[in-house]
Amino acid sequence: MASSETSSLKSFCIVTGASRGIGRAIAIALSSKFSAESHIVLTGRSVDALNETQRMVQAAAPGVHCKVVIADHSDEGNISSILSEITKDVNPDEFQRFLLIHNAASLWDVSRYAGQLTTSDLRSLQDFCMLNITSALLLTSHYLKTFPQRNGVSRTIVNISSLAASVPFPGCSVYCMGKAARHMLFRTIALEEPGVRFLNYDPGVVDTVMFRDLATNNVSLDAKQMMERLETDQQLLKPDQTAAMLLSILEKDAFESGAHLSYSDDFAKTFDDFNKK
Ligand SMILES: NC(=O)c1ccc[n+]([C@@H]2O[C@H](COP(=O)([O-])OP(=O)(O)OC[C@H]3O[C@@H](n4cnc5c(N)ncnc54)[C@H](OP(=O)(O)O)[C@@H]3O)[C@@H](O)[C@H]2O)c1
Repeated sequence: MASSETSSLKSFCIVTGASRGIGRAIAIALSSKFSAESHIVLTGRSVDALNETQRMVQAAAPGVHCKVVIADHSDEGNISSILSEITKDVNPDEFQRFLLIHNAASLWDVSRYAGQLTTSDLRSLQDFCMLNITSALLLTSHYLKTFPQRNGVSRTIVNISSLAASVPFPGCSVYCMGKAARHMLFRTIALEEPGVRFLNYDPGVVDTVMFRDLATNNVSLDAKQMMERLETDQQLLKPDQTAAMLLSILEKDAFESGAHLSYSDDFAKTFDDFNKK
């Protein structure tokens, strides 16, 4: 997105899953760099928490318009109205930069191995795929149609990815499946849409509700111990640390479209060691 010369560009930005954790931190970090009259749209299900993010964005960036769209991205029945609401009343000609941050995701049930699932899990698995894969694809298609290529306009799409997109974590088969599918989805769309900058960003291990769920409920004792070790060794990041790194990557704008960049390669090494045990 912005290098120092372009930070005055009027931006339109969407952050999914902005009610807490990494999504909230990204929304605040990005909007604080936007020029006045830029717009940011925050999605998620939790009304109060989204309103709190909106308040934080407005405090960090008083000139930026911040809209909240209450949306369950796993809800197939409402996908059309959610997409329309996100871009309602937007005149694309007013903006020089369009950003879409696919952050919303879920872990699914990490208390069972894949071999313990049954057909009664089908509905919940479909909801998982809708949230983590299909809704991201449909929102991307909607964004590409709503904001077509125009001279002098930049378009960037970020997929908040994970080491789990390429490394198997015991107890997290469904989560790994979702992250791997989403990663390949955006690598492919990057080839189809050379006029758009695509980034897969792995935020590192961050202290959020999702991390706590994983650390507490993971069926794999080995994986649980590894999470405990990361915490004891004070290797957990805060959401604003990883948001700042993403901002810096976007500002430098030197990545190859479709690339997978991570906050830190050190964690990958830790996990390789763990797998070799
Ligand atoms: N934390 C980590 O260590 C870590 C590591 C690697 C990658 N990541 C990735 O980073 C991203 C953010 O994770 P996080 O750790 O910040 O998780 P988190 O604290 O659990 O936040 C997840 C966000 O997604 C939203 N969300 C969940 N289900 C949704 C649904 N059905 N519809 C709409 N929004 C929904 C939540 O909002 P509502 O509940 O209000 O809907 C929330 O704002 C995810 O893509 C995750 O896979 C995290």
